[in-house]
Amino acid sequence: MTVELESLKGTYDYYAEDWATRKHLIEVVGEVAESFGFREIDPPSIERQGLWTEKEEDSVTDEMYAFEDKGGKDITLVPEQTPTRARMIQRRKDLKTPVKWYSTSKRWRYEDVTKGRDREFMQGDFDIFGLESVEADAEIIAAAGTIFKRLDLDDRVSLRINDRELLESILESHGIEKTEEAMKVVDDKEKMGEEEFREDLRERGLSGEAAEQVDELTDISGPILENIESLRETAPEEVQERIDRMESLGEALERHGVADMCRFDLSIVRGLAYYTGLVFEAFDSEGELRALFGGGRYDDLVSEFGEQEVPAVGFAFGYSPTIELLKKEGRYPLKGTETDAYVLSVSESVRGKALGYAAELRNEGLCVETDLGDRSFGQQLGYADSINAEKVLIVGENDLENDEVTVKDMETGDERKIPQDEVLESLS
Ligand code: HAM
Repeated sequence: MTVELESLKGTYDYYAEDWATRKHLIEVVGEVAESFGFREIDPPSIERQGLWTEKEEDSVTDEMYAFEDKGGKDITLVPEQTPTRARMIQRRKDLKTPVKWYSTSKRWRYEDVTKGRDREFMQGDFDIFGLESVEADAEIIAAAGTIFKRLDLDDRVSLRINDRELLESILESHGIEKTEEAMKVVDDKEKMGEEEFREDLRERGLSGEAAEQVDELTDISGPILENIESLRETAPEEVQERIDRMESLGEALERHGVADMCRFDLSIVRGLAYYTGLVFEAFDSEGELRALFGGGRYDDLVSEFGEQEVPAVGFAFGYSPTIELLKKEGRYPLKGTETDAYVLSVSESVRGKALGYAAELRNEGLCVETDLGDRSFGQQLGYADSINAEKVLIVGENDLENDEVTVKDMETGDERKIPQDEVLESLS
C-alpha cells in the first residue's frame, strides 16, 4: 500500500523541534492565566452541532468539521470553545461567580489555509463568567496583553477595542438603516481597499452617501482616552453611558499597564454573532498577519442554553499567528531541544555504572540521556551535541580506577575531573 506522507492540508506534523516553541508558548499562556487566578478546565473536542447551528449563525458555522456519528447524532469537532463553556456554565448552577477559566487545546475549522490560519489549530481561551463590570473587561484585556509582554512582543501588538452597540447606534444616528448589513462589511474592512469596501456596502443596499459615511465613521481610531471627547460628539445621547464605560475601560487599562498596546477602533466588529458589546482583536502593528487573538463580551450566550442568565467576557489567544510573528521577528525557534546531561560510557564494561549515574540524575529531576546503541565515543559526543546536552558525564575505566569521572561543559568545551561522589552536586 502506498500512503500519502503529507498530513492533510491545514494540519501539521509538529516534530520535536517545532513543538518545543509551541510548548513554551503553552507554558507562558498557562503561567499568565494562573497569575491572574484563571483555573484550567478541559472540555471535550467533539460536541453536538446544535451548540453552533441553533443560535444565530456566524462565520464559523459554515466551517465546521461536522458529521453524523455512528449513533446517528449530528456532531462536530469544536471550531471554538465559547459555546461549550456557555453550556458548561449553564449546566452547573452551584458554581460561585466569578468563574475564571482558561485552557489551551485544539480546534478545527475548514478555512482557507494561509499564514497563521490552519484547519487544525490551537487556541488558548480565557473567560470570566458572572460579572458585567468594566473591571472584568479590563482584566481580560490585561491578561491578553500580558502574554505578549512576557513574550517581549508587546511593541509589535496593536490591540484594537470597540463596542458593537456603540457602533450600531452611531451608524443609526447618522441615518444609516441597514446597520446589520453594514456591520458585516465593516468586519472585513481591514482586508479591503476603500473602493471595494464602499462597493460592498452599496451591494448590500446602502446608498452611496451612506456607504461613504460608514467608511468615514469606521476610520475613527486612536488611543482610547484621547478619542473619548470626539466620540461623545459623534455618538447619540442614548449611548453616552457606553462612552463613559469605554472611558473607564481606558483608565483601567492604564492601571493594568497595558494601555500603550490598546487603541479604540470603530471598525472592529468580529465575525462571531454572540458578542453583545465590547469586542477586541489584536494585530501585528507592522504587518499583514491576521488577528493574533480576539474576544469580547457575550452576555446572552449562556442563557441561550437554559434558564440561568450569566454575563461573560473572554478571548482566545491564537498560537499559529503568534508563531508567525515570532518568525517575522527572527525569534523562531524560541526554544530548541533541551537536555541537562548526557552520560557517556567509554566502553562496554562501564555501561552499568553509567546507567546508575543516569538513574540518580533523573531522580534529581534532570533530563538525562545515555547510550542505547553501543556507539563509539565520537558518535556519543556527536549525539550529545545534537540534543543540546549542557554537560556530558564521561564514564571511563581509567577515571573510575582513580575514583573519578570527567565532566565536559558542552558550551565552553572545558573538561574537568571530579570525584565520583560529587557527580550529583556538580550536575544538579
Ligand atoms: P476567533 O476570532 O474566531 O474567536 O478566534 C480567536 C483567535 O484564534 C484568532 O484571533 C486567531 O488568532 C486564532 N484562530 C482563529 N481561527 C484560526 C485558524 N483557522 N488557524 C489558526 N488560528 C486561528 C473565537 O474563537 C472566540 N471563541 C474567542 C472568545 C473566547 N470570545 C470569547 N471568549
